[in-house]
Amino acid sequence: MPATSMQDLVALCKRRGFIFQGSEIYGGLQGVYDYGPMGVELKNNLKAAWWRSMVYERDDIEGFDAAILTHRMVLQHSGHEATFVDPLVDCKNCKSRWRADHVKDNTCEKCGSKDLTEPRPFNMMFKTTVGPVADADSFAYLRPETAQGIFTNFKNVLDTTNRKLPFGIAQIGKSFRNEITPRNFIFRVRELEIMEMEYFVRPGEDEAAHEQWINTRLNWWLDQGLSRENLDFHQHPKADLSHYAKATTDIMYRFPHGLEELEGIANRSDFDLGSHSKKPEELGLVAKVLPNTDSVTKLTYRDLDSNQDIVPFVIEPAAGVDRGVLAVLCEAYTEEAVGDSTRIVLKIKPHLAPIKAAVIPLARNKPELVALAQQIKNSLQKLGLGRVLLENTGNIGKAYRRHDEIGTPLCITVDFETLEQPAATASVTVRNRDTMAQERVLVTELASYFQEFYSQT
Ligand code: GAP
Repeated sequence: MPATSMQDLVALCKRRGFIFQGSEIYGGLQGVYDYGPMGVELKNNLKAAWWRSMVYERDDIEGFDAAILTHRMVLQHSGHEATFVDPLVDCKNCKSRWRADHVKDNTCEKCGSKDLTEPRPFNMMFKTTVGPVADADSFAYLRPETAQGIFTNFKNVLDTTNRKLPFGIAQIGKSFRNEITPRNFIFRVRELEIMEMEYFVRPGEDEAAHEQWINTRLNWWLDQGLSRENLDFHQHPKADLSHYAKATTDIMYRFPHGLEELEGIANRSDFDLGSHSKKPEELGLVAKVLPNTDSVTKLTYRDLDSNQDIVPFVIEPAAGVDRGVLAVLCEAYTEEAVGDSTRIVLKIKPHLAPIKAAVIPLARNKPELVALAQQIKNSLQKLGLGRVLLENTGNIGKAYRRHDEIGTPLCITVDFETLEQPAATASVTVRNRDTMAQERVLVTELASYFQEFYSQT
């Protein structure tokens, strides 16, 4: 059965080294999490799968990596300074603060009082000072989305790659949102990572491209092991659209706390490239925050058919890495009855598994056995399929339990028989995580067995 409660997952994540509360030893920083040895592998594998599918397996998308610190003008022109807000209410009784649209029955979640203030807008961007002198105008923002770094570099990428429309620019990176009420583990956090891609098309070709990307992205999530019945779509009503969007469809996932957004696929029209191509006065902004912001770079594309400069439209699939990790964990978490006991197993897709194989010497106090296991581990590690672990705890039952819980697809046990057999016929036991079936495999054939396994999954 899949994870029914967030507690099951939080407990597993802590027990097995996936995710910890940020600044935990000082009482924790709300809405901030640290990824442990297993978590970082899972997160990296998910990001690598996204990058592979966006950049390497297509011929129309470039990669990018922009800075996190962002000039204030960028976020004025993008509209974030004015509109990246959530409605905030205060409880007059206990002084706690809540996001107005998350409050039920106009009641404070903490003390039960109904004496709440009227909602007021709260800007979610984090500010920081740049350079040694902090004055009113010297601040920069930590980016709230990675997209703006792509838009402001549109010309740089175009000029250095000679791309023709349609083409995309993909980026994965940290973003920061001062959420009023971070909650549900890593679902809503203040420091998050986003995988987003801006796909530039001719005006008029945007709606068809939008439809295509919605399908492409759904299929990608299915490839990561999410089941179709746990996924759904939500089309934003016009009144709920972000300030930049012409249309948005969310891919929703059935998390333990409900059906919630996993990825947004927006038609951003020509809003961003258009805004960054305008003078501040044209947007009603106060100009000159720092020097050298007077000139305007036209973020346009020379259309050779019409011989005119056009502002492309943008389709943007934007997925949260942390929410992706959470969805993959929710989907994979399984409790199975085995005899009289319950086995917890993470039935994660092998390409996402933190550990690709655990190599386990049957006894930890036999140096020759451990040396042979180490040799096998090293040879599998060299194949470059991800992390292979030498599990030298000497307790095979415990090792299997641990690797079931972290989702290791293959456990390879090196025993006395392996040691005693001649090298040409020496074999190991390979145990499959999902079926628990065990088979003997020749050490000489282990590399091809391993490669074959990962090529099929
Ligand atoms: N550039 C568009 C953009 O940022 P978004 O819908 O605000 O769009 C993209 O964010 C994705 O980032 C969301 O679909 C969600 O998966 C994730 N996300 C947004 N806010 C988050 C938060 N506070 N914590 C975790 N993930 C978040």
